[in-house]
Amino acid sequence: MKPIKIGLIGLGVVGAGTFNVLKRNQEEIRRRAGRGIEIAMVAVRNVERARGIVGTDCEVVNDPELVVNHPDIDIVVELIGGYDTAKNLVLKAINNGKHVVTANKALLALHGNEIFAAAQAKGVMVAFEAAVAGGIPIIKALREGLTANRIESVAGIINGTTNFILSEMRDKGLDFATVLKQAQELGYAEADPTFDIEGVDAAHKATIIAAIAFGIPVQFDKAHVEGISSLQAIDIRYAEQLGYRIKLLGITKRTVVDGVEGIELRVHPTLIPAKRLIANVEGAMNAVLVQADAVGATLYYGKGAGAEPTASSVIADLVDITRLATADPEYRVPHLAFQPNQMTNVAI
Ligand code: HSE
Repeated sequence: MKPIKIGLIGLGVVGAGTFNVLKRNQEEIRRRAGRGIEIAMVAVRNVERARGIVGTDCEVVNDPELVVNHPDIDIVVELIGGYDTAKNLVLKAINNGKHVVTANKALLALHGNEIFAAAQAKGVMVAFEAAVAGGIPIIKALREGLTANRIESVAGIINGTTNFILSEMRDKGLDFATVLKQAQELGYAEADPTFDIEGVDAAHKATIIAAIAFGIPVQFDKAHVEGISSLQAIDIRYAEQLGYRIKLLGITKRTVVDGVEGIELRVHPTLIPAKRLIANVEGAMNAVLVQADAVGATLYYGKGAGAEPTASSVIADLVDITRLATADPEYRVPHLAFQPNQMTNVAI
């Protein structure tokens, strides 16, 4: 069978990681997907730099429209981040009948409802495992592994940069600015690191988790968002003396306020008893704790950022889509278990 053809938009940290892992593990991935997965085209700003990464393995262009409009491309992978350009490209790809894989949590948290509705109407898939918790397959856990359950709550460390900053400040007594610079150099931080520090990135991810866990539309505007920029070294020391660690948590759970059922959606620094597993998650690692009725508590731990952990999730989505699209091209994967007009109250 012919390989499925991928068009990659963006060849930054995650794009290059995706290219490298796909190449290195090509044989295993082909066996697992049931057919080859071939990056046929890459769209980048700097063609020369990209050539240094992909060599002559695929076509390199600097106009992403060539990717979304190319008749031979089956799956478009959007890895440029940001809102408007990414949204236009994703919607164009969908309207051209292409499946989409994206790591763009900001895009989905703000425009996911429109994007999922367009994909549903067109009968294509939009997959986004890499958008939440980097290499941890939390979307697949919620959708597949836990699909029999009523989810009660999801709470986790879902921003590697802030966890790295809090860990280094506590362990090494380093100051905030120094550690942030390190996180940027290691490729953990967002292009605009205020998204990390102010809790916005974690809130984007918590918004997506809430939609998957509770079958509600994405509603980023309802999230309570508080970051770590006002925390000082002394807060971390006092927490330690009292037997706690400070972690930036993204929390979403079922709640009832004045007899009205809703979903809480919040991100804020949280004091956690130092003995708890999640309090001991250090560095750029992520951890997500899910409470569900049948299985009880499950905890997912792994690298939440970086080139190859995130590539691992991008490729998992490529394999999923390859399997589903190859098995039955007519099958329409339900994106979210909600009707577009069903909005849910969100309480804080
Ligand atoms: N800036 C993000 C983080 C990258 O630090 O977790 C992964 O989404």
